[in-house]
Amino acid sequence: MNSESVGKIKVGVIFGGRSGEHEVSLVSANSIIKALNPDKYEVIPVGITRQGAWMVGVKPEALLEYSKSGSHSCLAFNATSGGKASLNCDPTNKGLMLLDKPKAENQVQLDVLFPIIHGTSGEDGTLQGMLELADMPYVGCGVLASAVGMDKTFSKRLFRDAGIEIAPYKEVLRSRVKSDPDLVISEIESELGYPCFVKPVNSGSSVGISKAKSRDSLKVALELAARYDRKILVESYVNGREIEVSVLGNDDPIASLPGEIVPCNEFYDYSAKYVDNRSELKIPADLSAETIEQIRALAIRAYKALDCAGMARVDFFLERGSNRIIINEINTIPGFTSISMYPKLWEATGISYPELVDRLVDLALERYRDKQESLATVS
Ligand SMILES: Nc1ncnc2c1ncn2[C@@H]1O[C@H](COP(=O)(O)OP(=O)(O)O)[C@@H](O)[C@H]1O
Ligand SMILES: [Mg+2]
Repeated sequence: MNSESVGKIKVGVIFGGRSGEHEVSLVSANSIIKALNPDKYEVIPVGITRQGAWMVGVKPEALLEYSKSGSHSCLAFNATSGGKASLNCDPTNKGLMLLDKPKAENQVQLDVLFPIIHGTSGEDGTLQGMLELADMPYVGCGVLASAVGMDKTFSKRLFRDAGIEIAPYKEVLRSRVKSDPDLVISEIESELGYPCFVKPVNSGSSVGISKAKSRDSLKVALELAARYDRKILVESYVNGREIEVSVLGNDDPIASLPGEIVPCNEFYDYSAKYVDNRSELKIPADLSAETIEQIRALAIRAYKALDCAGMARVDFFLERGSNRIIINEINTIPGFTSISMYPKLWEATGISYPELVDRLVDLALERYRDKQESLATVS
């Protein structure tokens, strides 16, 4: 430990990972690392490679490097600027262990972790389970909210139970799609009709999602979704504006002003999200004062229905014509780059990016203290 780090809170920012959203995670982490107040925090970058190896960087900006790709430069994972590490899941020996160092100098102590890995193995409760075993405070939702938030049908059931409107849906198993495709299709046609949306239940970034308008396209859509998950969600098409709200907090969460996504394609598919660069983010969304308050209240209700903590972005459809508010999904580790919807909505609501990351670390520590309280009463 050097003298500069005395008294500072040591934050391990965990990024990268094995999901399709590896690159977005690098950009999110880079923005977070830059925004953590250096007078208050010592940042320890913890990168997970595409293969799943854990690395610890030697200085805050290590592991993340701009590299040239064609005419533009993009952020890349530079494993040479760090050493291999593993997180001790033994609570009597907390922190990271540097695998390449001799025993006397291989421990890295941490006060709190900030996981910013989107999608599988980062947002779905698996990483959060590991952090629970390690008995470390961490930013964001716990195991249950993360796992349920990632499962599009389990979350729908809880939203419906909380009185929030959802689109009519049907879940089908891949094994049934394979064994009896014609029957599955007939059931979908009679229960939901066309157009409908077909999605892998555990998915993100619109990967494996299609809009089916006919029997032929439904068949292709089911086969595509079946490549990503054993559970497939089919739901009615909602002709609506896409409205998103950021929520922040533990037991008493607050909701930001809503924003709107105007996709450049027929729907907000992978290419509209990451490739075409023509989708528009309207911050804040142009809505009546009454609708704004309704959507904010529903976002908080959805957040509480899943027992979220720290943060989540809640996405809705505002149906054209009827103005019905229908929930689409919740994202427990939303995009967190400096231009992402989640922090931008907070900026529009009066919380700057650095203040937001500061509050998230505080919420992680608060939740950890709360957990200690229940442990004390049990033992
Ligand atoms: N029922 C639906 N009706 C209309 N559009 C939909 C529906 N479901 C999804 N979409 C479109 O597909 C996009 C991606 O679906 P979503 O469920 O949000 O998956 P992901 O988790 O990959 O973001 C949405 O942003 C929206 O544009
Ligand atoms: Mg979405």
